[in-house]
Amino acid sequence: MIGGSGVYDLALLEDTQRIEIASPFGAPSGPVTIGTIAGVRFAFLPRHGEGHRIPPEGVNYRANIDVLKRCGVTDLIAISAIGSLREEFAPGSFVAVDQFIDRTSGRDGSFFGEGLVAHVSLADPVCPRLSSLAADAAQAAGAKVHRGGCYLAMQGPQFSTRAESRMYRQWGVDVIGMTGMPEARLAREAELPYALLGMVTDYDSWRDGEHVEVDQVVQVMHANAALARRTVNELARLLPPERAGSPIDHALDNAIMTAPAKRD
Ligand code: ADE
Repeated sequence: MIGGSGVYDLALLEDTQRIEIASPFGAPSGPVTIGTIAGVRFAFLPRHGEGHRIPPEGVNYRANIDVLKRCGVTDLIAISAIGSLREEFAPGSFVAVDQFIDRTSGRDGSFFGEGLVAHVSLADPVCPRLSSLAADAAQAAGAKVHRGGCYLAMQGPQFSTRAESRMYRQWGVDVIGMTGMPEARLAREAELPYALLGMVTDYDSWRDGEHVEVDQVVQVMHANAALARRTVNELARLLPPERAGSPIDHALDNAIMTAPAKRD
């Protein structure tokens, strides 16, 4: 699991071990904590680092995905604070995101490039099986859950202007955040089924006379911290004893364009 703003640890983890994992992509947001909940092995990484010191544009998304893959993670769920662009997605509710629009810039967004060219499909960027499990877990924990929603990843760190917020609504966007991309695209390249469970903290700035401020975001996050913890607990109980294979486990099978190197 990757924890966004307000989710800095998985308090329910038992028999924990904190491990520093090196990555050729640089430093991840911090050590990975590994442990168990109801017999299920979890690995946890707080996206913004301990004490929330790493801004959205400063997160080393490639290193984070790489170290989670290296420690044996098979499925990745991110829990993140999000703003709402729809009246019915009220603060305090959860959204199991199923689509993304990427408006970030200047972030390393691929493990591939010069020398090894690959194009994975991102048509369906979220794993439906994992996302529906995450939604079931949040519901079992007592949250109001919306299944499906289009997430716009903005660059930040400033919040949107009113004109941007209203334009995104016209585009059909449901929720907004600063970190879902390039995380989701990198998870796909790493063949990790990915789901994003967003906690709505605010209505962004499209409503007349209202705008978003950090104290409001933090207040709603704190009010929802126990719900987020209960969600993870429920998730551990809902996971099937045997992991069924996912097509995303083979996302790279048909993605590599570069010819294999010739051997003598
Ligand atoms: N995270 C939480 N609320 C947000 C908003 N309104 N815009 C971008 N990121 C957010």
